[in-house]
Amino acid sequence: MAKILVTGGAGYIGSHIVNLLGDTNHEVIVYDNLSTGRKESVVAGELVVGDLEDLEKLENLIVEKKFDACFHFAGSIIVPESVTDPLKYYNNNTNNTLNLLNLCIKHGVNKFIFSSTAAVYGMAEGGICSEDTVTVPINPYGKTKLMTEWMLEDIAAAHKDFEFVILRYFNVAGANVDGKVGQCSPLSTHLIKIACETALGKREKMSVFGEDYETKDGTCIRDYIHVDDLAQAHIDSLNYLLKGGESTLCNCGYGHGYTVKEVIEVVKNVSGVDFVAEIGPRRAGDAPVLTSKAEKIGKVLGWKSKYDDLELIVRTAYEWEKQLN
Ligand SMILES: NC(=O)c1ccc[n+]([C@@H]2O[C@H](COP(=O)([O-])OP(=O)(O)OC[C@H]3O[C@@H](n4cnc5c(N)ncnc54)[C@H](O)[C@@H]3O)[C@@H](O)[C@H]2O)c1
Repeated sequence: MAKILVTGGAGYIGSHIVNLLGDTNHEVIVYDNLSTGRKESVVAGELVVGDLEDLEKLENLIVEKKFDACFHFAGSIIVPESVTDPLKYYNNNTNNTLNLLNLCIKHGVNKFIFSSTAAVYGMAEGGICSEDTVTVPINPYGKTKLMTEWMLEDIAAAHKDFEFVILRYFNVAGANVDGKVGQCSPLSTHLIKIACETALGKREKMSVFGEDYETKDGTCIRDYIHVDDLAQAHIDSLNYLLKGGESTLCNCGYGHGYTVKEVIEVVKNVSGVDFVAEIGPRRAGDAPVLTSKAEKIGKVLGWKSKYDDLELIVRTAYEWEKQLN
């Protein structure tokens, strides 16, 4: 049994990992300020409500619990907001993570699993990214995530007992297949959530940002990964580190993508609603194609996908959204 700290475990992705951790014998403590998360989403373990900025509270918890490992989900995640309010992102994503890492090193929390993002690749040439693709983030959000990756690499080089797994998520979507947890954030910019909200009449209409890209139907292509598959990648990462695995970095995606129009079509089919999706101009900073090369995670962590099925992703997202107030 290990003692696990989960920052941001009341949020969308963290709550799915906590749900899976509930099936293990590990002791799980979620540390979350509930800024975008909800206490009802913590379906296993114990919730400690606190902010990463409250270093005294965080340090007391780390000293008391003597954690073996930390999953770090807490952060600010809205790309356009990071452009208009970069300081929020450098503070919450970079500064607060630096403080957390300081405490981890000080108190011997030596296994660290970090939520990174495909946004670190920026406008990657050709749009298909392996872990070796050059990282040139084009917005403050992506830069803050890359800064944490660099911190982790340097810390692990200097502290021989410290090991990390960095997971670069592509487009996370869907909800738990058993309906226990799902995405709750009211300000989400995620396509599948917005399309489901529109199908359910929670929004009047939605926008498609550009249909003049060089793709099969002119709309952007993204690699959508089901959140339960992503959650399993975290459990695999934890097991890998607990067995003595070396620090590593893996993409989390299925290695293929769908256009925006294809996704909207599936949401219309699943919901049975022909909602309005207006074609608008391109949005600054959108790469035409962003999909993963996804072999490494299977080879290194032993991860296997179970839910690589757009219809299932949409159906779980839609069913979750339907019961959400
Ligand atoms: N959702 C995606 O598609 C996606 C893609 C790539 C990477 N990520 C990364 O995954 C992580 C989780 O994302 P999510 O979609 O679950 O977002 P989310 O907003 O649902 O979850 C973030 C959680 O962190 C908490 N939090 C934020 N700041 C905090 C602070 N200072 N102190 C304590 N708690 C704090 C929030 O209350 C929330 O519960 C983030 O680090 C994000 O950058 C997400």
